Amino acid sequence: MICRLTLEKIETGNFSKKAIKNFFEKYNPIDKLTFSRKEFFNKGLKYAQGMSISGVQEKLSLIINDNNEFEIVTTGGNYILKPSPESFPFAAENEQCAMAISRIVGIETAYSANIQFTDGEEAYISKRYDRKNGNKLHQEDLAQAFNLQSDDKYKKSYEEALHLVREMSGGKLSVVKDLFNRIVFSYLIGNDDMHLKNISLIKDMDNKTVNYDRLTPNYDQLLVHAFPNPPQIGFLALDLLKEEGEGIFSKMYDKYGYYTGSDFYLLGERVGLRAQVIKSILENYFKKVNEIINIVDNSFMPVEMKTKAKALIIDRIKALKIID
Ligand SMILES: Nc1ncnc2c1ncn2[C@@H]1O[C@H](COP(=O)(O)OP(=O)(O)O)[C@@H](O)[C@H]1O
Ligand SMILES: [Mg+2]
Repeated sequence: MICRLTLEKIETGNFSKKAIKNFFEKYNPIDKLTFSRKEFFNKGLKYAQGMSISGVQEKLSLIINDNNEFEIVTTGGNYILKPSPESFPFAAENEQCAMAISRIVGIETAYSANIQFTDGEEAYISKRYDRKNGNKLHQEDLAQAFNLQSDDKYKKSYEEALHLVREMSGGKLSVVKDLFNRIVFSYLIGNDDMHLKNISLIKDMDNKTVNYDRLTPNYDQLLVHAFPNPPQIGFLALDLLKEEGEGIFSKMYDKYGYYTGSDFYLLGERVGLRAQVIKSILENYFKKVNEIINIVDNSFMPVEMKTKAKALIIDRIKALKIID
């Protein structure tokens, strides 16, 4: 059996003990939804307006009710449910795989799982990280932080984003390091859609200062290049280095035609990370290749998607090892 949260092998059931504790409020696992995909979309029309969660994909808020079932609600939801869009079959399985990898490589990651509609189709469900004992924690995404409209979410570089999170966290290098690591991660898994609205900072409940404490747990990760017709928009959602906006790329990028480890050293050093720190971030991925590949194999994605995902990850590991 495979744990629907961690995508690791387990003896029985749908969730490992630890996953149950992390994901379910009363620690009683819920194995299935009580409505179909069709009912989700019918309800969606009625409920979506009141929802505080934006984004591109259709989603609804859920709570766990007294019968220990997931129930669709307009306000006060503790979970977010995202089915695969019509035009992206298996997006739910794909997102869950990306999230499980994110967790296994040590990135703080929103708790999420695959769960089936009554008709057997898999959906993606995520536990809200911004709710603590009925209170809502304050989060801000980087489009808002840069004062940009949502449509301009691709209009900054990761270099600028890293400088901004340092400023917004009152100079915390740990936050810079965390975001830097997530950029490497996006490159590794072929996620070319980690734009400014998919990076957010959060404040703890008792924080009354202007500074944010940390990045939110990782969310909205996808193995984009494993889909049948991946969009041809390049390697990453944002330019890695600022000057790429003017068409100037690093010497190494010009030589290889893709980002290599050298580009990440260049970026990391520019935003204040020591070479040793950058090295340990990259090496963490080299050490964990087998674990990552295992997660892909255990995931609920179809075989072709797994094959593409694994090939891409192996290629990206090779690229990240180039540092001459
Ligand atoms: N587990 C979560 N807890 C709290 N907020 C979340 C969670 N996951 C996503 N969000 C918020 O909801 C927004 C939309 O979710 P996201 O997964 O990015 O959907 P989309 O694929 O539509 O962009 C995100 O930008 C983020 O602010
Ligand atoms: Mg998003």
